[in-house]
Amino acid sequence: MGAIARELPHSFEAALKLAQGILSGSEWLVRRGSIPAEAEQIVIAAAGLQSRLELYSRIKDRLNDEAGQKVIVMAMARAEGKILQHLIGHQDFMDHRYEVGPEVLVPRPETEVLVRTAMERLSVPPVPEPRLGLEVGLGSGAISIELLCHFPALRMRATELTPEARALAGRNAARILPAPDRLQVLAPADPLQVLEPFLSATEERLGADFLISNPPYLQQDDPIDPDVVKGEPGTALFAPPGNPLHFYRAIAQSGHRLLRDGGQVFLEMPSFRAIAIEWVFRDNGWDTEILRDLAGEERILVARARST
Ligand SMILES: C[S@@+](CC[C@H](N)C(=O)[O-])C[C@H]1O[C@@H](n2cnc3c(N)ncnc32)[C@H](O)[C@@H]1O
Repeated sequence: MGAIARELPHSFEAALKLAQGILSGSEWLVRRGSIPAEAEQIVIAAAGLQSRLELYSRIKDRLNDEAGQKVIVMAMARAEGKILQHLIGHQDFMDHRYEVGPEVLVPRPETEVLVRTAMERLSVPPVPEPRLGLEVGLGSGAISIELLCHFPALRMRATELTPEARALAGRNAARILPAPDRLQVLAPADPLQVLEPFLSATEERLGADFLISNPPYLQQDDPIDPDVVKGEPGTALFAPPGNPLHFYRAIAQSGHRLLRDGGQVFLEMPSFRAIAIEWVFRDNGWDTEILRDLAGEERILVARARST
């Protein structure tokens, strides 16, 4: 790629300017208004720094040629539409840094709202401290790992379809959790299974305190950023064709069997299907509540089995 033709930057300041210049070649990034922040992240990652603070405290320092070359290569790949987090290799989520790559969805800020909601609702007296939680669709592991860090007595059982994501989540768990065996990972037998891995793990009622999920929920013709479709795994984005509510319906229909009395369900959902998803739960005997994300979109469903 044309990277070699560019003059290498010899200071952090020059690298920042060069990265900004390369990124400015992309109209889409200009429209997003994210160029200064992305240029910083590229230089920090290329030079192996830890933080913005370190970058700006060394801004006039000399940058070695290898790091300078990396800045150019990464900025050009980003300008061509590669996902930033795939280039820098990580994403910060709540209290930790998660390894990410093309094999998993990059954890999103709206999912932090999901996790914070679960943490709050599971801490309201007289709700007992949670001991067993379930997650459908582990991905990078960010949801389960943050919950495990927050609730010391908790164990999580999580399903994940792809072996690549299971391996990556295992690396994140091993790095972040002092006792990674508090996270048990199960594989569904086929992509349409939702709760079967939990159900087959036990003959009796499992009695979990909660179930949480950010399942694949899109359809090909939904309004989606083309770079997301190009760069992130289809298995993470898309529900079965023609059946966008597949994961929600399965949880609404059989979730009771996995939870203790008073157990709760926390789900992320697309705002444009929030009402339909809420009705699936109401029809199946759940009390529901919809919460909004930071952008004001209806994004989180909280459901509790209606007492009979
Ligand atoms: C939207 S991503 C969520 C990842 C992560 N929990 C997060 O919020 O960042 C959905 C995840 O579900 C996984 N998945 C897809 N079908 C599945 C299935 N039938 N059972 C379990 N996991 C599945 C995908 O591979 C993907 O990792």
